[in-house]
Amino acid sequence: MRSRILLLFLLFWSLVLSTANEPLSTGIAVGMAAALTGFLATYQNVLYYFHECCRQEWISYNNTECEIVSAIVLDYYPTALEIDMKKKLFGQHIASRVIIKAVTGFMNNKNPKKPLVLSLHGWTGTGKNFVSQLLAENIYKEGMASSYVHQFVSTTHFPHPSEINTYKSQLQQWIKGNVTLCPRSMFIFDEMDKMHAGLIDSIKPYMDYYDNLDGISYRQAIFIFLSNAGGENITRVVLDFWSAGRDREEIQLKDLEAALSLEVFNNKRSGFWHTSLIDKNLVDFFVPFLPLEFSHVRKCVLAEMEARDLTPDEEIASQVAKEMTYFPKPENVFSVKGCKTIASKLDYFN
Ligand SMILES: *[C@@H]1O[C@H](CO)[C@@H](O)[C@H](O)[C@H]1NC(C)=O
Ligand SMILES: *[C@@H]1O[C@H](CO)[C@@H](O)[C@H](O)[C@H]1NC(C)=O
Ligand SMILES: *[C@@H]1O[C@H](CO)[C@@H](O)[C@H](O)[C@H]1NC(C)=O
Repeated sequence: MRSRILLLFLLFWSLVLSTANEPLSTGIAVGMAAALTGFLATYQNVLYYFHECCRQEWISYNNTECEIVSAIVLDYYPTALEIDMKKKLFGQHIASRVIIKAVTGFMNNKNPKKPLVLSLHGWTGTGKNFVSQLLAENIYKEGMASSYVHQFVSTTHFPHPSEINTYKSQLQQWIKGNVTLCPRSMFIFDEMDKMHAGLIDSIKPYMDYYDNLDGISYRQAIFIFLSNAGGENITRVVLDFWSAGRDREEIQLKDLEAALSLEVFNNKRSGFWHTSLIDKNLVDFFVPFLPLEFSHVRKCVLAEMEARDLTPDEEIASQVAKEMTYFPKPENVFSVKGCKTIASKLDYFN
């Protein structure tokens, strides 16, 4: 397409030159050629408008959107991400706070010293995947479908330990290639606890404080690790608060950090944690996700109804939430599957 237009363009100019002694047609030809030149200049932009590319039109963190009310009353402009989280993520007061701070700081920093590396921990169904999706949607216009967002699931992408060396060089190539195409690339690694330690070791340099590696800078990239590691310890802390009759929202990051980092260091099963990722402080934020209670599951159901354009029905929401299994016995406080599977349970009720 592009070369065809270029050819047309050249054709026009040769026409202009060949008719240079006829004043009238020259005028017309020059005019048309000029118009074509103008079109060519904007052609690139037109292309970018319709086709995703590594530019601001397609990749930007949405700071500007604001809820008028809070802006007036609180003199505070929340990011679109913050609004999204408030509306759609339940029971995660610590995770949402940490992530908003981390991502907003990083995206507004013109010169970050290293890529952003987040490690999300917690029980299944608590929203780790959902949060990575929200992040992708708030940074890339195409969200998870963006060609600059890459998701790897350990058991799917790197299933055979014997192939580790192939995986290593493949993953290095992918990260290098994709960051070369677009510095603002996002890499999501799911099921970190099942990932081979050597694999993460092999991509460690990309997460470090280097100005560049072989002429490529990785400082604009975002790495997100998801794992269930530490989930049990987080649950213990939350259960202690619950047993003491304390408000869940009183739990602070430091209450969990001790339990989390010790677990993270000591757990021999989870490959990730052997590596010097932690020793070298390459992970910028450990983000704990709390196990979800009945009231949160209910809210998930209501949100799902809204997403499906159904009239939110409190009664059905309670019923669906009651269908879930809760632990530990005998307290039955936390949903075993968090908000996972509520979508299919909801089908059953409609
Ligand atoms: C940013 O906000 C504007 C206005 O609300 C919206 O139209 C646009 O799609 C948002 N961009 C992203 C990348 O979310
Ligand atoms: C980018 O990553 C994907 C995997 O998500 C891979 O298939 C592709 O080859 C990579 N692109 C480059 C240019 O390396
Ligand atoms: C985390 O949980 C494991 C298993 O439940 C336990 O053995 C370990 O002591 C806990 N770590 C901390 C720091 O509480």
